[in-house]
Amino acid sequence: METDEEKKWQNLKKTITKELNFDTENYTNNFIKRRVACRMRAIKIDDYFAYSLALQKDKEEQKKLLKELTIHVTNFFRDREMWNTLETKILIPLIDAKIDANDKNLSFWCAGASYGDEPYSLAILLSEILSKKNKLSNFHIRITAEDIESKVIEKAKKGEFVDTHFSEMDVSLLEKYFDNINSSFVIKEDIKKLIYFRTRDILSPFGAPKNIDVLFCRNTVIYFEREIKENLYTKFSEILKPKGYFVMGKMETLSGPARDDFNCIDTSNKFFRKKS
Ligand SMILES: C[S@@+](CC[C@H](N)C(=O)[O-])C[C@H]1O[C@@H](n2cnc3c(N)ncnc32)[C@H](O)[C@@H]1O
Repeated sequence: METDEEKKWQNLKKTITKELNFDTENYTNNFIKRRVACRMRAIKIDDYFAYSLALQKDKEEQKKLLKELTIHVTNFFRDREMWNTLETKILIPLIDAKIDANDKNLSFWCAGASYGDEPYSLAILLSEILSKKNKLSNFHIRITAEDIESKVIEKAKKGEFVDTHFSEMDVSLLEKYFDNINSSFVIKEDIKKLIYFRTRDILSPFGAPKNIDVLFCRNTVIYFEREIKENLYTKFSEILKPKGYFVMGKMETLSGPARDDFNCIDTSNKFFRKKS
C-alpha cells in the first residue's frame, strides 16, 4: 500500500512536471530526490507536500529547481584525450571519405549542449583540421546544438565565456578563435555561424535533426530511466547516416537493442559507428 510519504512524493513529482514542464517520469527517482533535497534544504522545508505548495506559488523557486535538475557542467575540450582521439579516429577519416566522395556536407548534433562549450570545441577542431587540408571553404558545416533549458541556450548563442571554461584548451586556440573583451572571451563570428542553437527536449517526438554524420550525447542522459535511454539510443541509430558515428560520455554505457546497430570503435572514449 502507498504510504503517506509516497503519496506526497508522487504529488510533488506531478507538480514539478506541470510547473517546470520537466517530465520527472523520464528520470530516475534517486536523481530527482537528490536534487529536490538540495532545494528543500536551501529553503528550510522538510516536507514534500509543503515543498509542492511552495513550488506552485513561487516562480523563482521553480527556476532554481529547474537549474538543479539540469546540471550544466561543461568545458571547452572536456576530456581532452577524447578530443585528440576524436580527431584521428572520427573527424579525419570522415572528412577524407567526404573528399573522396565529393560530398560537401558535414552534419553534427550535440544533444545536451549546455552553455555551448562542446559544439564550439567541435567547430574549432573542424576549422583546424580543414584549414590544414586547405579545404575549409569547400565544406558546408552544420552543428545543431540543443538543450532543454532555454536560459543556457541563450547564453550559448552569445558565445561569451569566462576563463574557467578553458582549463583544458590550448592557449593558442584561445588567442586564435576568441576576442578578449572586458575580461571575458567572445567566440569569433566565423566559428559561431557554424552552429545552430535551439531549445529542445531530446525526448520530444518532434523535430530531431536527421541525416547526421556524428552525434554527441555526452553526460546528458546519465540520469534518465534505463528504458527511456534505450529507446533514445534506437532513435539515435535511426537518425544517423549509414556508417555515422555516435559519441557518448566516458562514464556511460550503450545498452538495449541499439547495441546491435553499432560497432564500438573506441572502448575508452565510447565511440560507436553505425553498421551500414
Ligand atoms: C552535464 S551537461 C553536459 C554538457 C556537454 N554535453 C558536456 O558533456 O560537456 C548536461 C546538459 O543536458 C541538458 N539536458 C538534461 N536533460 C535534457 C533533455 N531531456 N533534453 C535536452 N537536454 C537535456 C542539461 O540542461 C545540461 O545542460
